[in-house]
Amino acid sequence: MEWGMKNRLNKLIQPDGKALFLPIDHGYFQGPTTKLERPGETIKPILQYADALMLTRGVLRNCIEPNIKKPIILRVSGGASVVGEDLANETITTSIKEIIKLNASAVSMSIFVGSKYEHQTLKNLSKLVDKCEEYGIPVMAVTAVGRELKKRTARYLGLCCRIAAELGARVVKTYYCEQDFEKVVNGCPVPVVIAGGPKVSTQLEVFEFVYDGLQKGAIGVNLGRNIWQTQNPVASIRAIRAIIHDNFTSKEALDLFNKLVAEKK
Ligand code: R5P
Repeated sequence: MEWGMKNRLNKLIQPDGKALFLPIDHGYFQGPTTKLERPGETIKPILQYADALMLTRGVLRNCIEPNIKKPIILRVSGGASVVGEDLANETITTSIKEIIKLNASAVSMSIFVGSKYEHQTLKNLSKLVDKCEEYGIPVMAVTAVGRELKKRTARYLGLCCRIAAELGARVVKTYYCEQDFEKVVNGCPVPVVIAGGPKVSTQLEVFEFVYDGLQKGAIGVNLGRNIWQTQNPVASIRAIRAIIHDNFTSKEALDLFNKLVAEKK
């Protein structure tokens, strides 16, 4: 692996081999998502606890100060919306020139395996990998399911992750599943991070799936709504960080969370 690629991956994946990515890219198909109406404000108290920030070029340019110290993962696929015909109908939205100009440490894009647009989105990934590899920029593939959240089984996710890695993704973001998640990770030759999905009802649930996912081989998370849509985003991200980087169990994370909330941190 050449120096530039190694350097960028090292910025994203920490010396302990783990990572906490904070995504705020949801507006690219959902519009002004709850609690993300003003993304710059949303991340102010929590960014310091993340290892990287994932977002689109529009939010980066307009809402984020260029003196940001955290590496940027640029979302570069899109072209569909929640009110449109099919969320899977995505294209690559950002040129390689723009990716370099914005000094992205990585890019991310979605693939929709099994959908009507499977071929198109897999071709998007292959072409993006070709362009980004030329400049040492890692591609993180997102195994998206659109509205079909029930698709999140180990068999399906394992298939998606493996295909993404085979096509050249350097990191794969996928959903956690309760059964056989280790099979998803074991079948994927590149690091896997877990996405959160829609906000779950309790903090403990989040801590449990993050903890379990890590035990089963994920290197970390790319977790948004279950942090910044909660009532206590700072306590939430700090507790998740403790699971990822300090080997906290989900119970220890909950204790830390409750302590931080009591201290109003
Ligand atoms: C969503 O469409 C984006 O790609 C998000 O980055 C991803 O789903 C992770 O965010 P969340 O934890 O809110 O699902």
